[in-house]
Amino acid sequence: MKLSVIGAGYVGLTTAACLAQIGHDVFCSESDLEKLGKLQNGELPIFEPCLDKVVASARKAGRLRFGSTEDAIAWGNAIFICVGTPPLPNGDADLSAIEAVARMIAKRASGYRLVIEKSTVPVQTGTQLRRHLSVHNTNGLRYDVASNPEFLREGTSVEDFLHPDRIVVGVDSTRAEELLREIYRPIIDQRFACPVHEECGGWKEPKFLVTDTGSAELIKHASNSFLAMKISFINMVANLCETVGADVTKVAEGMGLDPRIGAAFLNPGIGFGGFCFPKDVQAFIRIAEKSGCDFSLLKEVEKINQARIELFVEKVRRELWVVRGKKIAIWGLAFKPNTDDVRFAPSIALVKALLAEGAAVNAYDPQAMTKARSIIPEIQYCADAYEAAIGSDAILVVTEWDEFRALDWKRVLSIVEQPLIIDGRNALQPEEISHYGFRYVSVGRADILPRRLTESVPHSPTSKKETNTQEVPA
Ligand code: UDX
Repeated sequence: MKLSVIGAGYVGLTTAACLAQIGHDVFCSESDLEKLGKLQNGELPIFEPCLDKVVASARKAGRLRFGSTEDAIAWGNAIFICVGTPPLPNGDADLSAIEAVARMIAKRASGYRLVIEKSTVPVQTGTQLRRHLSVHNTNGLRYDVASNPEFLREGTSVEDFLHPDRIVVGVDSTRAEELLREIYRPIIDQRFACPVHEECGGWKEPKFLVTDTGSAELIKHASNSFLAMKISFINMVANLCETVGADVTKVAEGMGLDPRIGAAFLNPGIGFGGFCFPKDVQAFIRIAEKSGCDFSLLKEVEKINQARIELFVEKVRRELWVVRGKKIAIWGLAFKPNTDDVRFAPSIALVKALLAEGAAVNAYDPQAMTKARSIIPEIQYCADAYEAAIGSDAILVVTEWDEFRALDWKRVLSIVEQPLIIDGRNALQPEEISHYGFRYVSVGRADILPRRLTESVPHSPTSKKETNTQEVPA
């Protein structure tokens, strides 16, 4: 089928590439000309595992092209609107890009179009869209409007799109429903060439959930807000564990064994970030407010999340006594692993807080340093985790990249000023780290003293520091 995708951000680019991957003929547009130029040259403006491969093979097969919004509107019978809906200062979602696209469709398209909202939008946006299309319809356009929220996560976007748990469509006509079912048929049946897994099979067929547009729009905000709430909940439990000496990892494990709770999204840390959770929670609070509902629960979720950074900085102060003049290594800047995205990343607020306390910051991230540099140019960016750790008084783990779990700890021990690791993601194994002579502080778990290793490991004795926590048994 000839399909159009308007907007080539994480959602738009993944949608366009994956729809081409499953056999459709896709035209994807981007209004940012620099980004469009890169895409037309086969360059991706984002780091996303596997996406470059899918885009390259779809372009080679002639099933994916990039161009202007005008051309995209003329191309396909179904148009996926995937433009950004960034937060406005008051927390509302900015819908101006959606409105502009709707007006262009109304003025330029003729015949029939299924106009599909795929961006995250507040409830009733579909109603506004319908009204706007009819107001500006100068070509006798016949159209349907549908909502088709996307649940992909950055870092696994291709896998999430092709192997979703559910496909939600909000429609007001059978024609729209049937068209969307046909578009997603290969994914519904899980019958397509999978670019992610060599041996791909055994994936559960996703539920194709049909509802009205408003409910579909709400499913997206409610789902993201619920996941954010789960994270804030376990972060509060982590605080409690720290005061009563319990282990949040075990608590989360015990909770997660109950299928009504589920183990997913019970990882405590320095808070959720990214371009979705923070803004979607805010937007949902605003949506509720406008409908006379005080979503106080979500306000607490936000407050708990915002407090994570100060709590973490307090740990750094506690461990370093005086932060001013200290050298701090930051491992990880992206808001989560496997992405180069630093939007609303906890690392940004953390680094700013440390700089304000007079610390010197050496940072390393496998993918996100270019984007972080444009926001915080004043810190040192390093070639690898080791370089960042040289002469450090503390190493802070801020993003749980796999590569930080596989480091040569003897080498790290030999280059730091003080063998101190403060893990904001519980990414490392406490026993292993202390085994190599580090003091290890994490989230919701007991602090671990360094284990005395044989003298063979060279390290300057001056910086060793004792605290009153139990030693790891041999
Ligand atoms: C999220 C939703 O998961 C996805 O369904 C939606 O489509 C878009 O928003 P994303 O923002 O890519 O996806 O990241 P996600 O993996 O959900 O992580 C969000 C934040 O929560 C990250 O900062 C992550 O570090 C944090 N997180 C996640 C936790 O702190 N603890 C957890 O247990 C899980």
